[in-house]
Amino acid sequence: MKILITAGPTRERIDAVRFITNRSTGKMGYAIAEAAVEAGHEVTLISGPTSLNIPQHLMFIPVESAAEMAESVKEYAPESDAVIMTAAVADYRPVEIAPGKIKKGDNDLLLRLERTEDILAGLGKVKKKNQILVGFAAESDDLEIYAKDKLKRKNLDYIVANDISQTDRGFGSDNNAVIVFSAAGEHTEIPLDSKKNIAESLLKLIFS
Ligand code: CTP
Repeated sequence: MKILITAGPTRERIDAVRFITNRSTGKMGYAIAEAAVEAGHEVTLISGPTSLNIPQHLMFIPVESAAEMAESVKEYAPESDAVIMTAAVADYRPVEIAPGKIKKGDNDLLLRLERTEDILAGLGKVKKKNQILVGFAAESDDLEIYAKDKLKRKNLDYIVANDISQTDRGFGSDNNAVIVFSAAGEHTEIPLDSKKNIAESLLKLIFS
């Protein structure tokens, strides 16, 4: 199968030397990409900036901003049997990017942000029959309610939710624990394990 995976954070530029980003390291997405290659799938990995080694035997597309990620995803999604969006895409970006470096002054500086495009929701709107769409949800409260809401709102087949209020898993860690909710109404818990093992379990669940 042809699988498109997104991973890592995005960077939204403020000026020539500054940007807004988040704590995503890309580890979960890269682990899924590696497990998918291992399982014999044809993999495209679209990644925001990370410090990880580029996995082998797949097509790697580096991007920086949410807009760049959206453009690449739109190029590759139509030909993909499954799209797994692990990327922590910025929800907001600065309205203006200063061409040089912003100099400090005595007054407060107001940074005006605008919404970015919701890439996954866009894919949900044009989803082909038999295409599998998988989203990720990092939640600190009411995990089940918010995850199920995203599953429905974005027209996904699966949403993989993790609880970011726990410090031994998720962001930056080599381990994770997730609950997967499906459009069919099932929910499956994948308990605390290495991201490599979680990735393998996830792929088995999605393609079973
Ligand atoms: N996503 C996306 N495009 C965006 C933002 C998120 O495709 N601009 C995808 C992520 O890759 C992930 C899922 O949507 O698979 C996360 O959903 P989202 O509603 O954006 O999560 P949060 O940002 O955590 O949302 P909220 O602030 O509502 O909790």
